[in-house]
Amino acid sequence: MTGRTRLLRILAPAIGLMLVVACTTTPPAGSPTPGATGVASPPATPVAGGEVEIFSWWTAGGEADGLNAMFGVFESEYPQYELVNAAVAGGAGTNARAVLATRLQQNDPPESWQGHAGQELIGTYVAADQLEPLNFLFEEEGWMDVMPEALIPQISHDGNIYSVPVNIHRANVMWFIPAKLTEWDVQAPTTWDEFLATAETLREAGVTPLAMGEQWTSLHLLETVLLGELGADGYAALWDGSSDWSSAEVTSALETFDQVLGYTNADSSTLSWDAAAQLVVDGEAAFTIMGDWAEGYFVSKDMDPGAGDFGWAPAPGSVGVFQWLSDSFVLPKGAGNREGALAWLRVAGSKAGQDAFNPVKGSIPARSDGDRSLYDAYLQSAMDDWARDDLAGSLTHGVVASDAWKSEIDTALGLFLGDRDVAAFQTALVDACASAGACGE
Ligand code: GAL
Repeated sequence: MTGRTRLLRILAPAIGLMLVVACTTTPPAGSPTPGATGVASPPATPVAGGEVEIFSWWTAGGEADGLNAMFGVFESEYPQYELVNAAVAGGAGTNARAVLATRLQQNDPPESWQGHAGQELIGTYVAADQLEPLNFLFEEEGWMDVMPEALIPQISHDGNIYSVPVNIHRANVMWFIPAKLTEWDVQAPTTWDEFLATAETLREAGVTPLAMGEQWTSLHLLETVLLGELGADGYAALWDGSSDWSSAEVTSALETFDQVLGYTNADSSTLSWDAAAQLVVDGEAAFTIMGDWAEGYFVSKDMDPGAGDFGWAPAPGSVGVFQWLSDSFVLPKGAGNREGALAWLRVAGSKAGQDAFNPVKGSIPARSDGDRSLYDAYLQSAMDDWARDDLAGSLTHGVVASDAWKSEIDTALGLFLGDRDVAAFQTALVDACASAGACGE
């Protein structure tokens, strides 16, 4: 008897049992309904089911609609499960991620949560051993053939893949209403110098040049100013330790950031990102710089980018650079309903799921085979840019820095928003890089 035959003999009873179980669970979506041929159905057998809790922070116009659209796909493909939407309001996950951290500490994970590809995923959840690898699912679903090559390292550690990317968002976008710019006789600026000149004209006309919201949106603005002033290579070098945060170029970029902040709305700290975007819609502010979930927001207000209801341009200084981030879903260790969690991940990674979600969310599919005809004029332009632009990762949305590093930058930014001391800010940023271990001690 060969070793293999012996193994089969030993495993035979177990394999038999597995076959019985396999034959009595719910057939995959699209399989013929048992009994549909007129043959008497076997007695009802237990099927996989139960609650599937999905955790995110998608509650604003566009993002909530996108999530609901993907829920619709899940519900039609897996009617045996009951979805629980555990979204916690607060853009960029500022509140949600704190709630999630507490739940994880208490060993009470939802079936799946939204985590950003990059350092947020790897440096936090993978480092804390909270996730199951998903290589088997990528193989089963053929995702290695359709997910962008550039994305795989951002969701992998030691050869294991840890999340299912559902989209690609662009962070460095400046939004405006073309008719308003015509009325005010200004154009979308292409550099930060041009922005400062345009902002002065707008201020004289009594218009807020740049709408901004609560603190994370100023971190978002900071990353776009750093990108615009340092260029894609200079920006990348900040995160891989190859350049010095104390350089004259960084000083100059921070001075620009300081000047730009001088043209934002006075009530920014009290506004959410979508309330800031609404200032642009209402004609109170000329521009806002925000990721393209803002496009989902504008569309949710019945504005059509194809008809010119709103316009967009790369944030100043970043033409030809796509500052990206990716929303992705994970499989926690100890998920209460692992089968339900896997069903959700199958939908999140599927063409049907992504083509339902992204046209409404304001993002492009992570998959390369999305149906372009479902995407509006802005999103088609984002697809083209993603394919040809240089890439830079977002800080605010988890790509380039660990949570610990980002949080130290955010603390320094909070102080800077109060004292506007560029030199002290830069020193704190130098220190943050050192304590993150990225720039030496
Ligand atoms: C980002 C997230 C986006 C969008 C945005 C505003 O962090 O990746 O999907 O939700 O926050 O809430």
